[in-house]
Amino acid sequence: MMIELPAIQTRLNEEEEQAVIRVLREGKTLAAGPEGAAFEQEFAQFIGSEDAVVLSNATAALEAAAILTGLGPDDEVIIPAHTFVSSVVPFARTGATLKWADIDPKTRLISAETIAPLITSRTRILVVVHLYGLTADMDPIMDLAKKHDLVVVEDCAQAPGAKYKGKRVGTFGDFGCFSFHSQKNITTLGEGGMVAVQSKDMGRKVRQLRWMGNWPFEQERQCYWKPAMGNIVEPAPSVWPHNFCLGEVNCAVGRLLIKRLDQINASRQRQAKRFRDALSAVPELVFQEVQDGCEHVYHLMAARFDGSSMNKHRDDLIRQLFDKHDMKCIVQYWPLYRSELFRKFGFESANVPETDRYFDNMISFPWWSDMGNDLVDEMAKRVQRAVEEIRKG
Ligand SMILES: Cc1ncc(COP(=O)(O)O)c(C=O)c1O
Repeated sequence: MMIELPAIQTRLNEEEEQAVIRVLREGKTLAAGPEGAAFEQEFAQFIGSEDAVVLSNATAALEAAAILTGLGPDDEVIIPAHTFVSSVVPFARTGATLKWADIDPKTRLISAETIAPLITSRTRILVVVHLYGLTADMDPIMDLAKKHDLVVVEDCAQAPGAKYKGKRVGTFGDFGCFSFHSQKNITTLGEGGMVAVQSKDMGRKVRQLRWMGNWPFEQERQCYWKPAMGNIVEPAPSVWPHNFCLGEVNCAVGRLLIKRLDQINASRQRQAKRFRDALSAVPELVFQEVQDGCEHVYHLMAARFDGSSMNKHRDDLIRQLFDKHDMKCIVQYWPLYRSELFRKFGFESANVPETDRYFDNMISFPWWSDMGNDLVDEMAKRVQRAVEEIRKG
């Protein structure tokens, strides 16, 4: 049977399924209700942020960050080219200039060293992506951001619950953006997101942005229907609102999932240790380095393949695994400056040799929660065999 990356990473348990039924049968509303409010509060408490606002997905969370910082055409944004497209488009849409930051070859994430040379007097925002589930080295990054007065947006879509030096990601920057998409470590029924913020004031702005500026009147009124049932407000100066809402059923499931997120991540870490240990005698495969103080919650299991000593390439390994071992591996993330979209918008220029080297040599193995030891061992065995075969061949 072909082993491949599934479209659902974590299945719901019985209690989570029952929560769906409960809200459908007993909930007073299916939109903007008590489940959403409780999910926000519990999420903020879980990660340790001042406030958190539930949204339709992480892309909406990144949009909210880009909009509410008032980013515009005079500004520059430092951002990795090695990430999912959603990390970047919300900032590009404002007309700001994108400055592509390279990755560190060991962690495969951007670092203070790769960011520093890109800072100019026009730099406003720094987008840090905790890609694959590994936390970036935040202390030096935050020192740099403070020194240059930069807004920091953390894209935590792939690293919910991960800690850097004991503190959860999403609480270092001004905005922490989370995804509960079907393919993430936890999912609120396929779509969902959250933005963690550092003040109640910013939380209020995001909430006003989230539902087309609909907001209760703040003054006492004699007739509840005058001048209208509710006010419509400007979320921030010159900002038009959006509809970025998530439903109550999704939020009810999210509330339960954050209670077992640490357990899900711990189980993914055990799987990862087993897989990486089993392949430790295959020097051609180099996994991400997890530096002191950082944590990896293994959203994905990716490695660089170095076959130069046998004159072989990553493509040979992917082909061998697919053709001979029923294993479908993939490649991620196409350096965005090389893609059609960013070239069309004039962002085709970048000096990111490590990003290019990694993408052109990386392999991402099938990975999800609760794989079980037998499957992890079987996968490692197939990979080892495939490498041995291409060594000979
Ligand atoms: C790094 C990263 N950022 C943002 C997103 C966007 O998440 P969503 O699908 O919830 O909008 C994803 C989704 O794959 C992602 O991997």
